[in-house]
Formats: sequence, C-alpha cells, structure tokens
Amino acid sequence: MPKKKITELKDLKIPVHVAIIMDGNGRWAKKRFLPRSAGHSAGSKTVEQICDDAWSLGIKYLTVYAFSTENWKRSESEVATLMDLLRKYMKNCLERSKKNNMRVRVIGDISRLDDDLRDSIVRLVSESSVNTGLCFTVALNYGGRDELVRAFKEMLAECKDGKLSPDDISEETISSHLDTADIPDPDLLIRTSGEIRLSNFLPWQSAYSELYFTDVLWPDFDKNELIKAIEYYNTRDRRFGGV
Ligand code: FPP
Repeated sequence: MPKKKITELKDLKIPVHVAIIMDGNGRWAKKRFLPRSAGHSAGSKTVEQICDDAWSLGIKYLTVYAFSTENWKRSESEVATLMDLLRKYMKNCLERSKKNNMRVRVIGDISRLDDDLRDSIVRLVSESSVNTGLCFTVALNYGGRDELVRAFKEMLAECKDGKLSPDDISEETISSHLDTADIPDPDLLIRTSGEIRLSNFLPWQSAYSELYFTDVLWPDFDKNELIKAIEYYNTRDRRFGGV
C-alpha cells in the first residue's frame, strides 16, 4: 500500500521535545561577505522566532545548543561576540518571557561565565519559572560528557555521604542527576547546515531521539523548515528497541 502523504498540519504528530544544534552562522555570514558576528546576530534572531513558531505548532519543550564547552577554542573576539549576544539575549528574554509565558532554563556549567551574565541567567530562570508556556532550554558552556562527569561526581559524593547506595543506581538515577533532570528526553533532534554529527549535545538524553539533518544554515531556518523536520519525524516508526 502506498504510504499516506502528510499534507495537513493538523494530521501531524507533534514531538513534545525538540532539540536543535544551530549550526552554520559563520557560513551564512561568509556567503554575504559579512563578518561572522553578523551570522551569530542573525542566528540569535532566528532563536527568538523559532521559540514562537515551536509553541504555535504545539511543541512543549525546545532546547538549543548556544555555546559548547569546546567553543572556548574559538578566537577571543568571536567568544566575546557570542557572550555579548547572550548577554543581550538574556536581558531581552526577561521581557519576552513575561509576554509569551515562556519558561527559560539553562543547562551546562555556567560557573565559567562572567558574573553579570550568570546573574542575568539566574534572574531569568527564576522569574520565568512560574510560566506555563514553552519550556525553552539554552545549553550554555554545555558538553554532554562534562554533564555526565558532573553527574557522576555528584552521585559519588552522595554515596560517600550515605545518601545513595551504589546498588540503587539505575538509568533513572543518572537521568535525575543530569542538568536536564526534569525535562523529558528529546523526541526529535535537528542539526542545521549539513553536518552529520551530534557534537557532544545531549548524548545520554538523545539515545532514542529521531535525528534530522538539513543543509539549511541556522539563520535561514524558519517555521517552514521546522514543519519539514516534523514531517520527517512523522515518517519514523519509533520502537524504542521493541519490534
Ligand atoms: C554555530 O555556527 C553556532 C554557534 C557556535 C553558536 C550558536 C549561537 C547563536 C545562534 C546565537 C546566540 C544564541 C542564543 C540562544 C541567543 P558556526 O559559527 O559554527 O557556523 P559555521 O560552522 O558556518 O562556521
């Protein structure tokens, strides 16, 4: 029997949690003979728009990879540009989250960030925690392996203090010690710009995620592209290891 062609938005099963590796800002800028910073700036506007689009489509959780533990290796000026953008973003986001009822969270090791940026993150996360709209998570100085190391250290300390027994450690125990503790695992993970790898993003959480790779560069990613990714997700048969 021919496969049913999905055309209607209302027929689509919407993933609860979508995670995105936002790649291609630099190439987007290069194509326009602009500095890389212009690509990051355009990419940051795309982030704002895609939050609204995701919520309007019925997505409940959106997680984006904004800065990895490896991104410190970029030039000093590019790191400074990204940090400034994040500073601006966190400030604007406080107002936006009040308007659109968005809850913002940050995963990653924020202890390495400048005090002012850290303070605005703490304020944004705390003030938006009562919101009931999109749960938007920004991965900042995030690395999946680093997150696992921090989780294991915490579990070992709890074992030492007698709060946790090694025999009781299960997959749930590990999940509950990750930065994403009360966020469901992503159903769909998207990477833009044609690279086919996960780059240390949510390695534990994405064990059963559907993966969608697109050549579209992040600043060009829009609601239509998000719908294409959801259409792809709808063609997948998720068995979680079963038959
Ligand atoms: C990859 O593009 C993108 C990043 C390293 C950072 C993503 C950051 C943003 C979209 C802006 C700030 C984020 C928020 C949440 C406001 P690339 O520079 O690696 O692109 P390239 O591979 O084409 O060089």
